[in-house]
Amino acid sequence: MSLYRRTMIPLFVAAGFAAAAGFAVAPGFAEVEPEPDPAREAELVALGEQIFFDRNFSKNRTQSCATCHDPDYAFSDPREGKAGRAVSVGDDGESHGDRNTPTLTYASLIPPFHEHGASNYVGGQFWDGRADDLRAQAGQPMLNPVEMGMTSSAEVVERILESPEYVEKFERLFGPDVFDDPDVAFDAGATALAAYQSSPAFSTFDSKYDRVLRGEESFTAEEAFGRSVFLSWNCQLCHMLRDKAATETFTNYEYHNIGVPVNHAARAANDLPENHVDHGLLEREGIDDPRQDGKFRVPTLRNVAVTAPYMHNGIFEDLRTAVMFYNKYTSRLPAAQINPETGEPWGDPEVAENISLKELESGLALDGPRVDALVAFLKTLTDARYEHLLERDGPEQTAAAARSAKPES
Ligand code: HEC
Ligand code: HEC
Repeated sequence: MSLYRRTMIPLFVAAGFAAAAGFAVAPGFAEVEPEPDPAREAELVALGEQIFFDRNFSKNRTQSCATCHDPDYAFSDPREGKAGRAVSVGDDGESHGDRNTPTLTYASLIPPFHEHGASNYVGGQFWDGRADDLRAQAGQPMLNPVEMGMTSSAEVVERILESPEYVEKFERLFGPDVFDDPDVAFDAGATALAAYQSSPAFSTFDSKYDRVLRGEESFTAEEAFGRSVFLSWNCQLCHMLRDKAATETFTNYEYHNIGVPVNHAARAANDLPENHVDHGLLEREGIDDPRQDGKFRVPTLRNVAVTAPYMHNGIFEDLRTAVMFYNKYTSRLPAAQINPETGEPWGDPEVAENISLKELESGLALDGPRVDALVAFLKTLTDARYEHLLERDGPEQTAAAARSAKPES
């Protein structure tokens, strides 16, 4: 709702919408907000949903947003490519991206990109915050050559125009002139996509964690222990806004470099040279401060147990590994320097500067039971509709991973 109110007025006025919709907006008074209109909002969300699932918005008509953001998998990508599930395959069936596809659940709660205090950035969409908000984000995948591969907004609008049903809906929602300028029509599509992703179905707050907060269920002893570890270790420094708040998303939306190693398998799958460096926040337009090199936006931990693999480049397969990685900074045990998935030392950080050592070293070493408890707690952050996916990694596999992964063994 706030998104609709904040972003749509200039567009509507530009498109002659105010008049078309019968709003009492005097010409030239673009700052006047219309009364919220639930019926119209519902129509906008429905249009966004239709676009989200429509493969016609990719070059070869093989991919929709939902191909990589599959609603059955918390809007992440369950498909296997050349580098497993680490990075997604594009519409040409060949190209692989360089970053892991994030969940879109709770993405509408990410604040718009902004500076918070001196050289401390917060919010924005994408791992590097390069889109200010959902609406700015929505047009990008269609025009990304390694994703949906369309060449221009005009080409996207041609696809809209192929469908009389779309034309009718766009004109009704955005005014009869919406197709006069392809950029206005493209923007209207982005607005609808953002409205869909901001709808309550994406942010259900019905995980076990939420149900426990509401007094409907209780944590097991292990989950409760995991929660207290989460709160007393350093996790809460970055993965928490306010404990107990009903809308906690388990990220403070800041940018940090935690020293994630290069994913060589992903680099072999995409055409980037082996010595390519993902600079994270420094890649965002307008950011040229070398202190931002290698930083990525802290991801939400909601639905994390069902959205493997982990980190911006999908380097870790198992949630347990992602948790154990933090021991690299806090444990003196030689085993803590070994990646349990490879049996080799954790790789060097992609960017060795700007690592948030103050926060990372302020934790304590996690022993096996604490790692188990943290994983058990993180599983409680799974929305009700995805809880059945927790069964996927059966108890045997989890137990096997636990055996091979205990730092003290
Ligand atoms: C080929 C796979 C692919 C397709 C198709 C795709 N995405 Fe994505 N999406 C990604 C990847 C990978 C990222 C992370 C990229 C980055 O951070 O640089 C991402 C990031 C996002 C984000 C940011 C989420 C966050 O937490 O920062 C949003 C929102 C999003 N996509 C929405 C969409 C929409 C809407 C569409 C359709 C118009 C779409 N995506 C199509 C792979 C895809
Ligand atoms: C200094 C801030 C910071 C601290 C402290 C921190 N994290 Fe993170 N966490 C991040 C950032 C940033 C990422 C993404 C890094 C990247 O991809 O380069 C991340 C990623 C993760 C992921 C992977 C999420 C995904 O979707 O890929 C998990 C799981 C996680 N953290 C759990 C924890 C736990 C558990 C703790 C406490 C033991 C913790 N974190 C402490 C900042 C932090």
